[in-house]
Amino acid sequence: MRAEDIKNVACVGAGVIGYSWALYFSLKNLDVVVYDISNDSLDLAKKRVHDSLKSLIKNNVVSETESKNIEDRIIYTTSIEDAVKDAKLIVESAPENYDIKRDLVKKIEEFTCDDAIIVSSTSGLLISEIARDAKHPERFIGGHPYNPPHLIPLVEITKGDKTSDDVVQLAKEFYTLIGKEPVVLQKEALGFICNRIQMALYREVCDLVSRGVCTVEDADKAVTYGPGLRWGIMGPSLVFQLGGGEHGISGLLNHLGPSINMWLEDMADFKEFPKEFGPLVQAGVKEEIANRPKEIGNDDVSLAEYRDKMLIEMLKLHNKL
Ligand SMILES: NC(=O)c1ccc[n+]([C@@H]2O[C@H](COP(=O)([O-])OP(=O)(O)OC[C@H]3O[C@@H](n4cnc5c(N)ncnc54)[C@H](O)[C@@H]3O)[C@@H](O)[C@H]2O)c1
Repeated sequence: MRAEDIKNVACVGAGVIGYSWALYFSLKNLDVVVYDISNDSLDLAKKRVHDSLKSLIKNNVVSETESKNIEDRIIYTTSIEDAVKDAKLIVESAPENYDIKRDLVKKIEEFTCDDAIIVSSTSGLLISEIARDAKHPERFIGGHPYNPPHLIPLVEITKGDKTSDDVVQLAKEFYTLIGKEPVVLQKEALGFICNRIQMALYREVCDLVSRGVCTVEDADKAVTYGPGLRWGIMGPSLVFQLGGGEHGISGLLNHLGPSINMWLEDMADFKEFPKEFGPLVQAGVKEEIANRPKEIGNDDVSLAEYRDKMLIEMLKLHNKL
């Protein structure tokens, strides 16, 4: 099978992640069947697809007519057989639990064609364990999206111990073909790449705020109007390459190394977030939100709308929409 042969996709589990994957695949002209365990869950997924499309229309990403076609390309069912029997790619986005996922693997394999790729959206479970009892573990991969998958291009591809390299390569080609930016983990690692990077940064936010060095609001501002702007364009290593002038990143590390080592010595290295940080940061976030003008979001709803509007503008700059 070639990446271009993947025209039919099944989304198994249609919650926050599953509905958004279904929307993305349909946006890319693929035929999608969505499976969930109850009609109520499917109705909610349908509503979420509709509401997200309204936001895409408002932000000039799709027209009214395109939106109608995108909705029509998605079929909803509570029959797993109907969902997976014609699909060449099956994306499982069920609850983060080995028993549920293993049970689904069994049901999926009962009805799917032998060359289909089966992908789990898992945020951190091991693919080797999800596919432990599978008849064809070689065709299982992790395809970790970032929420919402219909807007964020990154997919972290992870392998299990029996996953075939050909399947990884095919999945990578498929995601690239539909406009995603896949990265491949060469070894299994808890939290994958980006959640580890996010948590390394957030451990330091926690420490700076807890020590009284800065407020929650100033830590957020510092990231948003400082390095965050550059990270939205290129990754941290490329940013440092430019910071090193003619000697590049190695020059930068030579030049600033002794100073950086002093910062590292003083920085957080705890292995568990302190319990008292939850209420502390929540109070700081409340104050931060209250200080924001309405047009950039000053409650959870307007913040989410502002995030999506800005995300869409940035994706347009990256030619990703
Ligand atoms: N929410 C996120 O930010 C995020 C990001 C990346 C990956 N993920 C991963 O995506 C997966 C789904 O997470 P979510 O946030 O969409 O959860 P969710 O609770 O919103 O959705 C789960 C869906 O699965 C359905 N479901 C329950 N039992 C099922 C079964 N036996 N078979 C099929 N469907 C079943 C539920 O009805 C629900 O619609 C998880 O593995 C999670 O780790 C989540």
